[in-house]
Amino acid sequence: MPAKKALITGITGQDGSYLAEYLLSMDYEVIGMIRRSSTMSFERIAHFQDRVTLVSGDLADEVSMLTILKEHRPNEVYNLAAQSFVQTSWGQPVFTGETTALGVTRVLDAIRMADPEIRFYQASSSEMFGKVHEVPQRETTPFYPRSPYGVAKVYGHWITVNYRESYGMHATSGILFNHESPRRGLEFVTRKITNGVARIKCGLDDALYLGNLDAQRDWGYAADYVEAMWRMLQQDSPNDYVLATGETHSVREFCELAFSVVDLDWEKYVRRDERFFRPAEVDLLVGDPSKAAALLGWRPSTSFEDLVAMMVTADVDRVRKGLV
Ligand code: NAP
Ligand code: GDD
Repeated sequence: MPAKKALITGITGQDGSYLAEYLLSMDYEVIGMIRRSSTMSFERIAHFQDRVTLVSGDLADEVSMLTILKEHRPNEVYNLAAQSFVQTSWGQPVFTGETTALGVTRVLDAIRMADPEIRFYQASSSEMFGKVHEVPQRETTPFYPRSPYGVAKVYGHWITVNYRESYGMHATSGILFNHESPRRGLEFVTRKITNGVARIKCGLDDALYLGNLDAQRDWGYAADYVEAMWRMLQQDSPNDYVLATGETHSVREFCELAFSVVDLDWEKYVRRDERFFRPAEVDLLVGDPSKAAALLGWRPSTSFEDLVAMMVTADVDRVRKGLV
């Protein structure tokens, strides 16, 4: 049988890089969509760049995606591209809507026109639950987004469901709770903390400035989550799935643990900074992954403690090598 072909939008991001590695390990032919920028940053994909085909396109431009689909004819499309930083979405709400919301329609429409048999994965988010209606959150929990990003993701989720129901497309939505890794962007709180810990340990900084320490998140390991994305598209029918660990921890707990990995007391270094508080906060996220466990046979394999230790160790290593 010929190898399967997958298109990944957002291949240069955290999840895109792990998903590409995973698909390559299963002999997929991987096409990665990248957008034009004045300085290309391939930091996360440099180690396998020669094994994937990179093509130019943008979620803002439907023609570019239609052209890619017609030319490369993938069996599966993983839509991971987005303006993914919640804080930025208040400063750039329209841009966030263009990319994170309408961008999904553009990909779906391009698929519908190029080949409606292509299987589609949409990167939905626990941020859609926002001001939560129940604990833990599951596929049936009503949405109450608390940021322009969350609102855009709700649109992306429902347009995926709508194309499934309107056109019979194999369009699946993975509602993923926060997942992190040493490849996480530096602006997200986990990596900001582990990078800060490393810089303090190595004598480059003497304080770490953070916002709301009380927020609670269900943090898993990104490499575990991309495997479930693939499993979703191997099912006979499209569906919606929550991916989560089922455990929640506060930002404060994350700090405490991260500093303890290098034998430092977090309270001596962490300072509150109003700039990092949000106009509306998501206070508590904790997911129920039992549907994914039952239908996909998926379980996260990395504990919170191991995740924090992995990220701190990787950042200390990077700082010692002068890389961050
Ligand atoms: P990320 O590291 O921020 O990566 C985002 C990717 O999207 C990058 O490759 C970026 O390209 C690309 N992109 C942004 N705007 C684009 C555009 N207009 N056209 C084409 N590409 C564009 O995000 P991530 O953490 O890997 O997350 C992947 C997806 O899952 C996102 O949709 C995110 O919203 C969603 N999600 C993430 C989590 C999580 O905890 N990580 C949880 C739930 C859902 P550049 O490199 O050029 O910037
Ligand atoms: N980024 C950041 N920086 N967050 C901080 C800080 C800080 O200095 N201090 C406290 N926080 C709090 C935020 O207020 C939020 O409650 C929590 O830390 C997590 O923030 P982020 O790491 O930025 O992630 P997020 O939960 O807002 O969004 C991430 O997860 C979503 C899934 O729930 C992103 O990956 C989204 O793309 C994703 O959809």
